[in-house]
Amino acid sequence: MFESPFGHSIMKRAKEKELVNIGIHDIRNYSTSKHRSVDDYPFGGGAGMVMQIEPIDHCITQLKTEREYDEIIYLSPDGELFDQKLANHLSTKKNILFLCGHYKGVDERVREHLVTREVSIGDYVLTGGELATAVIVDAIVRLIPGAIGDEQSALSDSFQDDLISPPVYTRPADYKGWKVPEVLLSGHQAKIEEWRHEQSVLRTKQRRPDLLKDK
Ligand code: ADE
Repeated sequence: MFESPFGHSIMKRAKEKELVNIGIHDIRNYSTSKHRSVDDYPFGGGAGMVMQIEPIDHCITQLKTEREYDEIIYLSPDGELFDQKLANHLSTKKNILFLCGHYKGVDERVREHLVTREVSIGDYVLTGGELATAVIVDAIVRLIPGAIGDEQSALSDSFQDDLISPPVYTRPADYKGWKVPEVLLSGHQAKIEEWRHEQSVLRTKQRRPDLLKDK
């Protein structure tokens, strides 16, 4: 599940440039059972299986002997909502461990004792934490200096200042009579910046007024 999202474009180049190192660890390798199982029936009954604490603890304990983790994040739909602020914060960390749950989730004691943070990527339920992890890692890695060609462009992303990015255009200036705004062709940089800011505010008001709430 990680090969493809981590194997292309910016993520691939960031790994090649050694801006980031990503290790993937199979909890099953830390199972104590013959069949490498890592889940069991829930105490008290009910549907679905629960991931056991033991293999997870063994895995985390082993990994902690190899490096210190700034955060151990459990991906869960009931975690704190992931946003650009959290991406910025996490991009300054050295080592982060992501724990991907499956089935009905992990034994609650994992959440109480082994993780430092619980994060959700949105109010919907995925089959596991892997895709959520891929989303978060992508958002973090592109912020690492040198990961994207023009560092400036990560700072001007939507959400970086609680504003949506302004519209962008490229050639041709006129396509089927659909024209690029004059100001962008004017060469007048101050006017262009002013227009971009106005557009950002306008778009944010129209599309995401919630972002302006506290302003
Ligand atoms: N695991 C299942 N659903 C998830 C979500 N929305 N965010 C993070 N992890 C999840």
